[in-house]
Amino acid sequence: MSALTIEGLGGKKRLRGTIPVYGAKNSVLPTMAAALLINGETVLENVPDIADVGVMAQIMRTLGAQVTEGSATLRIDARQLTGSVVDRALGKALRASVVLTGPLLARMGSVTFPHPGGDLIGERPIDLFLAGFSALGATVTETEDTYTINARDGLKGGEFFFSTVSVTGTETMLMAAALARGTVVLRNAALEPEVVALAEFLTSCGAKIEGAGTPTIVVTPVSLVEPPPYTIIPDRIEAATFLALGALLGEEITVTNLSVHHLDAVIDVLRRMGVPLTIGTDAISVSAPQVLKPVRVRTHEYPGFATDAHPPVLILLTQANGESVMIESIFDGRLQYTRELNAMGAQITQVSPHRVQVLGPTPLRGATIDTPDIRAGLAFIMAGIVAQGTTVVRRAELVDRGYAHIEERLRAVGVDIRREA
Ligand code: EPU
Repeated sequence: MSALTIEGLGGKKRLRGTIPVYGAKNSVLPTMAAALLINGETVLENVPDIADVGVMAQIMRTLGAQVTEGSATLRIDARQLTGSVVDRALGKALRASVVLTGPLLARMGSVTFPHPGGDLIGERPIDLFLAGFSALGATVTETEDTYTINARDGLKGGEFFFSTVSVTGTETMLMAAALARGTVVLRNAALEPEVVALAEFLTSCGAKIEGAGTPTIVVTPVSLVEPPPYTIIPDRIEAATFLALGALLGEEITVTNLSVHHLDAVIDVLRRMGVPLTIGTDAISVSAPQVLKPVRVRTHEYPGFATDAHPPVLILLTQANGESVMIESIFDGRLQYTRELNAMGAQITQVSPHRVQVLGPTPLRGATIDTPDIRAGLAFIMAGIVAQGTTVVRRAELVDRGYAHIEERLRAVGVDIRREA
């Protein structure tokens, strides 16, 4: 257990400097899984130094893959896979491990995995994964807490419609389809940049994929080959978080190594709030305006406003001049952390499981808080930076799951933050 202690600025707009964005957590995890499809070696670059990558690597080693972690690189040799059972404890510790089921089933003809479980942001069902595999001819056997999927003679071609748009569901089916015997058509697929990136990686392995980034993806069977080194895309959630921090307290902050075209919805919200932005090719400079305007934000699948970007932007809403609304449309439990913000002085009223009203601006005061998840953790850090006094964010290891070297990067722009074991 570790904690991050932040000495707040009491609202003074003093942050200045450059924050680099690292490779995307939600892209590196499925791309690592996809390496299991290759009877050869995969080299990934721009890999973030986050705890979740370590857990994924550990699971993949238990399956026989050789995973070598270098400085921002990963080398994955999947020539000799020895198992297709996802370790129960590790699988449950990392919800995203569910993406391993697609490549394992495709390559090994079967996969056994634990139910990844729900978490504090809401129920996380896997019905779409099971239905998707069945649509490609696999059989599903369920025991008390594990699932076994079989496709001994390989997956066949087929069509699958996602009744709910699912990011990891689309990624998993894309990987399963890559080694299927016939053409696979995925409808109502997720449009997220991480899905497009995965399709690009698979294409670099020789896969024939059309329509990634649109609701209909068509995968035609071909055999896969060793890819050239692949660079993980920038983390758009990190970028959104640092931009929100600059809008809150920046004299001027420049967020670098980002993909501007992945940030349309965030840029739109910041502009509507009156935040000055200077947009370059792969960097955005941002400073806090005199007055932040209130705004209505609704999370949505891509290209809408990402649910993972909502907690940092909500901190911004507490400092806007008037009544803002945040509608969380993806996850049922994701607004629970707002109670802790009220204890810090925010005026947030939860009007339904999916909607809060935020009345601002309210000065915040330091507090000691346990974070429930990665994204709320970063929001609490931001609340601590804007607050008067000292804030302690406990369970900081949850923050480390998604944000590498967070203290170093925040310190570089003037945040007083330190870690205690
Ligand atoms: N859903 C189902 N059945 C399924 C799968 C999903 O009903 O079988 C529902 C979910 O309950 C949810 C909706 O579909 O209501 C969308 O969830 P989705 O499946 O898209 O979420 P995910 O793929 O599990 C990824 C990210 C999350 C991010 C969501 C939404 C990864 C590894 N995780 O999760 O990231 O919030 O998409 O964009 O890509 C995070 O990084 O902190 C994080 C939680």
